[in-house]
Amino acid sequence: MSFEKKIQELLHKREQAKLGGGIKRIEAQHKKGKLTARERIELLLDEGSFEEFDMFVTHRCNEFGLDEQKYYSDGVITGFGTIDGRLVYVYSQDFTVFGGSLSLAYAEKICKIMDKAMKVGAPVIGINDSGGARIQEGVNSLAGYAEIFQRNINASGVIPQITGIFGPCAGGAVYSPALTDFIVMSKENSYMFLTGPKVVKTVTGEVVTDQELGGAMTHGTKSGVAHFVSEDEQEGIMIMRKLLSYLPQNNLEDPPVVPCDDPIDRLEDALNNIIPVNPNKPYDVKDIIYSIVDYQEFLEVQRSYAPNIITGFAHFNGTSVGIVANQPKYLAGVLDINASRKAARFVRFCDAFNIPLVTLVDVPGFLPGTVQEFGAIILHGAKLLYAYGEATVPKITVVLRKAYGGAYCVMSSKHLRGDINYAWPMAEIAVMGPKGAIEILRSKEINAIEDEEERTNYIISKEKEYLDKFATPYNAARYGYIDDVIEPRNTRFRIIRALQSLATKKDVNPPKKHSNIPL
Ligand code: HXC
Repeated sequence: MSFEKKIQELLHKREQAKLGGGIKRIEAQHKKGKLTARERIELLLDEGSFEEFDMFVTHRCNEFGLDEQKYYSDGVITGFGTIDGRLVYVYSQDFTVFGGSLSLAYAEKICKIMDKAMKVGAPVIGINDSGGARIQEGVNSLAGYAEIFQRNINASGVIPQITGIFGPCAGGAVYSPALTDFIVMSKENSYMFLTGPKVVKTVTGEVVTDQELGGAMTHGTKSGVAHFVSEDEQEGIMIMRKLLSYLPQNNLEDPPVVPCDDPIDRLEDALNNIIPVNPNKPYDVKDIIYSIVDYQEFLEVQRSYAPNIITGFAHFNGTSVGIVANQPKYLAGVLDINASRKAARFVRFCDAFNIPLVTLVDVPGFLPGTVQEFGAIILHGAKLLYAYGEATVPKITVVLRKAYGGAYCVMSSKHLRGDINYAWPMAEIAVMGPKGAIEILRSKEINAIEDEEERTNYIISKEKEYLDKFATPYNAARYGYIDDVIEPRNTRFRIIRALQSLATKKDVNPPKKHSNIPL
C-alpha cells in the first residue's frame, strides 16, 4: 500500500471511530437531549487541546455474537487536554456503543489515563453515561471496574478527581464516582443507584421512578451523593471547569493564585448591622460570605443538602479558600448528622489539597433527639471534629454570633489548632445558652418561688445576668482563645491579612500508617 493510501486508511479509521455506535444511535442520544461523549469533551476542554488515546481499541469478547460487533474506542473516549491552560486527563463514556457498558478493554483505557495522571500529577475528570457492566463480558467487566476502583483509591488525596453524571450510572458502577472528590449531576437524564426501581419493587415492594430513586434532585438534597446539580449537561460541564479553577493540580502544589482588583481593605458597613438584635432571629450567612470574598463569587458545594451548614470555594485577594459557615437560616445553624458529614468531607478535601480554611461560626450546638442519637451523631459529629483537628492547612475562624458547647470546640476552635481566631463583638461563646444554663444553675431557687410572675421575672433577670457575663467574646479573648475581637465591616481585610501571614505555614501530624477517623 502506498504511503498516501496508508494515510487515507488512517483518516478513514478515525472517521469511523468518531461515529461511535453509528449515526442512528448518535441521533437517538441527541433526541434524548444528551450530548455525545466527544461533544462533552469538546465543551469541557480548551478548544483544540484534546489529545486522544486508544481510539483503535476494540473489545476482545467473543460471547453472545460480540465478535461480530466491534466499534473503535469500545465505548469510552480517553485522553488529555487543558482547562484554562492547565493539564487534565479525561474519560467520557459513549452510550452509543453497547449503551456505554464497560468491557475489560474499556476499563484498561480508563486505567491508562488514570495512571498517567498520577505520574504527572494532573486531575482526572470522568463523564459517566453507561448501562454498567457489559453483560456479555461477565467477570472481566467486574475485574475492570475493580481495577478502576483501586486507582480511584490510590489517587484519592493525590490528584483531584471529578465526576460528571450525564446519563445512567447503576449497580457497582456507582462506586467509582463515589470514590472521587466531587460528583456533578445534570437534572436531565441522569440517575445513580445501586439497585434500580425494578429490583426495589421486587425486594421491598416500594414503587419509585428512576428520578425519585436516584435523580440529581434526590442526590443533591436527600442523599448528599451529588455535590453539584446542574440544569443540563452544558451547565454541569461549566461547573466542572469552574471547580478546577480553585484547585491545585495535585497535593504537592498550592492552588493557583488569580489576579485580584477587588480592594483588600474594602469596608462593608452593612456587616456592622447584619446580626439581628434578637439573638434568636435568623439571618443569611451567605450575605456575609458574598460581601467579604473577591468579586462576590462563591462556588457552593452541596448547596441543597444539609443547608444548615454552608461549604464552598472562594478567593480572598486571589487566594483559593474553602469556606465553612453555619447557616442560621436553617435549623438555626445547628450541627446535625448530615451537616457534620458534609462539612467534614469538605474540610478533609481542602486539607488534602492545600486549600486554606475560613470558618464562619454561628452555631447554637448539636441537634438533640432520638433520631440524631440513634443515627450516631456521636460518630458523625466526631468526624467534623476530627477533620478540623487533623487539618494542617491555614485555619482562620471568625465567630459571628453563637459558639456554644461542643459545637464551639468543633468549629475550628483555637484548641483544634485554629491559627487565627477572631470574633465579632456580638459573639456569644459559652458552654450553653442562657435558658439551659439558668435552669441547671438556679433550679433550686427557681423551684422555691411559688408566684409564677415572680418566678418568670427571676429567670429573666438571671438569664440576662448570664448573658452579660458569659455570652460575650471577651471571656474567650481573656484566655487568648480568641486572638482579637474585630469590627464586622473590616472582616475581609482581617481575613486577607491573616491568610497572608499564614502563607508559609507548616504543621505536621504524627507519623502513622493512616488515621482512624470515626466512620
Ligand atoms: C451490554 C448493554 C448494557 C449492558 C445497555 N446495553 N446496557 N449492553 N451490557 N449492561 C445496550 C443495549 O443492549 C442496547 O444495545 C444499547 O446498549 C442501548 O440500550 P437501551 O436499553 O436500548 O437504552 P435505554 O432504553 O436508554 O436504557 C438504558 C439502560 C438499559 C437503562 C441503561 O439499557 C439498562 O437497564 N441496561 C442494563 C443495566 C444493568 O443492569 N447493568 C448491569 C448493572 S450491574 P443496541 O444494540 O440495541 O443499541 C453492574 C455491576 C458492576 O454494573 C459491578 C461493579 C462492581
